[in-house]
Amino acid sequence: MTTAYKIIEHTYDMVVVGAGGSGLRATFGLAQKGFNTACISKVFPTRSHTVAAQGGVAAALANMGDDDWRYHFYDTVKGSDWLGDQDAIEYMCREAIPAIYELEHYGVPFSRTEDGKIYQRPFGGMTTKFGEGPPAQRTCAAADRTGHAMLHTLYQQSLAHDAKFFVEYFALDLIMDEEGACRGVLALELETGDLHLFRAQGVVLATGGYGRAYFSATSAHTCTGDGGGMALRAGLALQDMEFVQFHPTGIYGAGCLITEGVRGEGGILRNSLGERFMERYAPSVKDLAPRDMVSRSMTIEIREGRGVGEHKDHILLDLTHLGPEVIHEKLPGIAESARIFAGVDVEKQPIPVLPTVHYNMGGIPTNLHGEVVQLRNGDPNAVVPGLYAIGEAACVSVHGANRLGSNSLLDLVVFGRAVANRCAETIVKGASHKTLPKSACDAALDNLDKLRHAKGELPTAQIRLDMQRTMQADAAVFRTEETLAEGVQKIGEVFDSFQHVGVSDRSLIWNSDLVETLELQNLLGQAVVTMNCALNRTESRGAHAREDYPNRDDVNWLKHTLADIDAKGKVSIDYRPVHLKTLTDEIETVPPKARVY
Ligand code: FUM
Repeated sequence: MTTAYKIIEHTYDMVVVGAGGSGLRATFGLAQKGFNTACISKVFPTRSHTVAAQGGVAAALANMGDDDWRYHFYDTVKGSDWLGDQDAIEYMCREAIPAIYELEHYGVPFSRTEDGKIYQRPFGGMTTKFGEGPPAQRTCAAADRTGHAMLHTLYQQSLAHDAKFFVEYFALDLIMDEEGACRGVLALELETGDLHLFRAQGVVLATGGYGRAYFSATSAHTCTGDGGGMALRAGLALQDMEFVQFHPTGIYGAGCLITEGVRGEGGILRNSLGERFMERYAPSVKDLAPRDMVSRSMTIEIREGRGVGEHKDHILLDLTHLGPEVIHEKLPGIAESARIFAGVDVEKQPIPVLPTVHYNMGGIPTNLHGEVVQLRNGDPNAVVPGLYAIGEAACVSVHGANRLGSNSLLDLVVFGRAVANRCAETIVKGASHKTLPKSACDAALDNLDKLRHAKGELPTAQIRLDMQRTMQADAAVFRTEETLAEGVQKIGEVFDSFQHVGVSDRSLIWNSDLVETLELQNLLGQAVVTMNCALNRTESRGAHAREDYPNRDDVNWLKHTLADIDAKGKVSIDYRPVHLKTLTDEIETVPPKARVY
């Protein structure tokens, strides 16, 4: 290390990294339970990516027709293509109902029915009567700005409780001890360049997904998977990273999200012949099929020459028939996005759309309490003491191989709350902290210092673009041995090229060049793991569609992938069993069967 760094030390019971929906729910939940809690965030909390969530949050409230949390459970298991853990799914779908009423009481301004109940719209893959009934109206919405409404309310609740916020602090690395326990996190204060060591009995990673590993994503530029990157550097394995969700309706070119709520309100996807082609692929639910199926269907339409536009390379989302009232009341946000980013008046013209990377089903493996788990000495559920993960950063796994739309906002609040509940059972408030060795932060500081003084010939932006183009081309909606093998090689080369990165600004104060380089490092590890895991899984399941292995293979692949990466970019893969048993006997396990809609 060329520089001696001064570190400001803080001691808390709990530290939450990230201030999106899950981070804020955990933060105020912990504070509410009397824990001395800090939340550190690289952006101002209300700018976290949850703000961009549009269509809604699922819960079987039955406000607008028959529903039951058991139907929601069934749909989520089926949607996950049986890779989801059924105990965790039961927990989430049952807890959804109190969690949403709790949000309502906290002040989330949900849209309302005529009789004043929370408004609920249909969403893809959400049905009734264990898949036999009509589509469920289960997705609770605040127009098409549900994430915005929730995030602001959660932040207000956090302020109402006694949590301490450290805003515009970038988490650098986890501080792990020799026994493999997490003892805190080192962070860079962006405004001053000061380094802060947050010591804690528990660190909660609520850092979101790594969508920006791809060229076209609905994710904000801040979605750089910082928690996953830190976990990999700490030698931990990530789970099910091959499962990357493409949202069917990103705006063509710009990639911005057009909510599935549009199809929930009656919007229709059309090809160049004007056909409602989803009728052919999912005859019963049509445009409200789950996202993996809709994205594949759109891709096939384009491949077979029925795409629209000069290059026949996209699809149209038609909502012209919905009428101005529905659009103004239920979908005002996407009308604005379509006008700004596609130059379209949605009352008169369809929106050009294309499947766009939207969500990572994979992440840091946890149990249903949000505790990080690893495979240790044959135990697939060994808890990493002091480390928790929630939200998109985590893989509980409630989404398995394919997440249903509106189960993500739900996952954030249910598991944010679960972590606070778990800590109330397991952590002693105000307990003294074990002494940390003097060298505790050395590895993190070495990494920071190396990148800060990196003098290579490759700008961060160049390496990032190489990574994004490789991921976009080779870990796409459809995958083959050939594209993935090429992808593994190329992404490996991009990973190696990071040795030659050059950072031009050596200061620590508002050094966006350095921060982007640290973010790129986080993305790169996860990109390499994703590509390798995708090559490794020789079956098709959920969002992982292998053209060379078109069928699901439960005999060999009904298991979670675990993968870590060493400093040279070598990926090691192992497995954990899927939890096929439910949590209670109030609902029966759904055995794997053909997934048709
Ligand atoms: O389409 C949407 O509104 C996105 C929702 C989600 O990803 O859950």
